[in-house]
Amino acid sequence: MTDSKPIFVLNGPNLNLLGAREPHIYGSASLADIEAACAAKAAQLGRPLVFRQSNIEGELVTWLQEARDKACAVVLNAGAYTHTSVALHDAIKAIGVPVIETHLSNPSAREEFRHVSLVGQAAKGVIAGFGARSYLLALEAADALASDQKSDKV
Ligand code: DQA
Repeated sequence: MTDSKPIFVLNGPNLNLLGAREPHIYGSASLADIEAACAAKAAQLGRPLVFRQSNIEGELVTWLQEARDKACAVVLNAGAYTHTSVALHDAIKAIGVPVIETHLSNPSAREEFRHVSLVGQAAKGVIAGFGARSYLLALEAADALASDQKSDKV
């Protein structure tokens, strides 16, 4: 383990319905399935994991602020708030912890209103379009970025 602080995985609105919600777009895995897969990946990486979901924008802002001191990196699937939230954009800019924007689907290949990402304009990078596997790829990126920060690499 290179850092004792956890990776926060934060999930936004409607992601509690995964598995039942438009499975042709988002797949059949439930959020609990994704949490279990993330827990296994985090254990493999030797990182503690905090995994949360909220439908409330302000709660996500509060959790991002909490990450400022308590997380080594954040994997953020902000759901639809990705495309609308100046508050999430500002919170990401404020905290100085690397944030990886993450999506099951590839918003760039979907409706035009999903092509703008206010989260992505503040995040370190984006992983999208790989279904539930996006979360595991994002955890690998989070782990690498957290290690970089510790060793002062660019
Ligand atoms: C999503 C993509 C968003 O555009 C959408 O509003 C979601 C899910 C994804 O994971 O693919 O709720 O974030």
